[in-house]
Amino acid sequence: MKATAAAHANIALVKYWGKRDDALLLPEAGSLSVALDKLRTTTTVELGDFAADTLTLDSREENPSRARALLDAAGIRQRARIDSRNEFPTAAGLASSASGFAALAVAACAAAGLRKSAEQLSSLARLGSGSAARSVPGGWAVWEDESARQVFPPSHWDLRFCIAVCSSGPKQVGSRDGMRATRETSPYHAAWIAQCRRDLPEALRLLAARDLSGLGALAERNALRMHADALAADPPLLYWHPPTVACLHALGELRAGGIGAWGTIDAGPHVVAICASRDADRVGTRLRAIPGVVDVLLCAPAGGARLLP
Ligand code: PMV
Repeated sequence: MKATAAAHANIALVKYWGKRDDALLLPEAGSLSVALDKLRTTTTVELGDFAADTLTLDSREENPSRARALLDAAGIRQRARIDSRNEFPTAAGLASSASGFAALAVAACAAAGLRKSAEQLSSLARLGSGSAARSVPGGWAVWEDESARQVFPPSHWDLRFCIAVCSSGPKQVGSRDGMRATRETSPYHAAWIAQCRRDLPEALRLLAARDLSGLGALAERNALRMHADALAADPPLLYWHPPTVACLHALGELRAGGIGAWGTIDAGPHVVAICASRDADRVGTRLRAIPGVVDVLLCAPAGGARLLP
């Protein structure tokens, strides 16, 4: 009645920002991501006759209600003791629900002795947080409907992802509330969704061809358009801090100097630079020199969620 699983967080190159069903966490448009090796979460689930569900995240007690939604959907009625640990600096605000819920789905089903397919596990992880659906298959993953699938293994393309940690400031508006507010109030939201539907097939073509300048530029445009949509919400959602903007300028300067690096930004201040492995050290050094950048983590593509012995 006890199992441990590990999963990696992922960064989307075509982002998910809008739900067509709030209760089922189904996306309005498809998204494309890659799992990141350094952003790994390990989760242990123990099932039993406990008084209540408990969830500890890096030794802090958290509300287990979203985890319970996932367990209910899997048909697990016993109470759960869930212990989740991030193997990366959580103080930096990189704590990811994607790796956590992906590891939870795999560990909980194993602890309950349930045999689930990869699609079923992805679909369960989605009920914790949408992007977690993509961390179950890992690698280069597409999520369009109930579950995500791997479209290329991590070995398809040896790119690097330099995560510039751009603040440890106050908590942002979470993605769930941010997405809802954007869909309900941004006059640009329909245009954003239409754009994602054009971007996904184009991104898959560029990924298959390993076209870095094409895919990097597309990912940066896609992220800026997501933020344009969020900025247009009422009240506006401004996730950026001064170093976020400085990183985008620095990446533009690197490109002008012949180094191919492009940025993407989730619902927070951090910038993830996409570049070739041979350029990663120079990109990392440039980002680290920016005032306000507190850390830079260098990541490579990673695989999917898996049980640990
Ligand atoms: O899965 P959530 O609810 O954490 O939302 C993820 C939203 C973004 O990170 C901004 C985009 C994405 O596709 O990962």
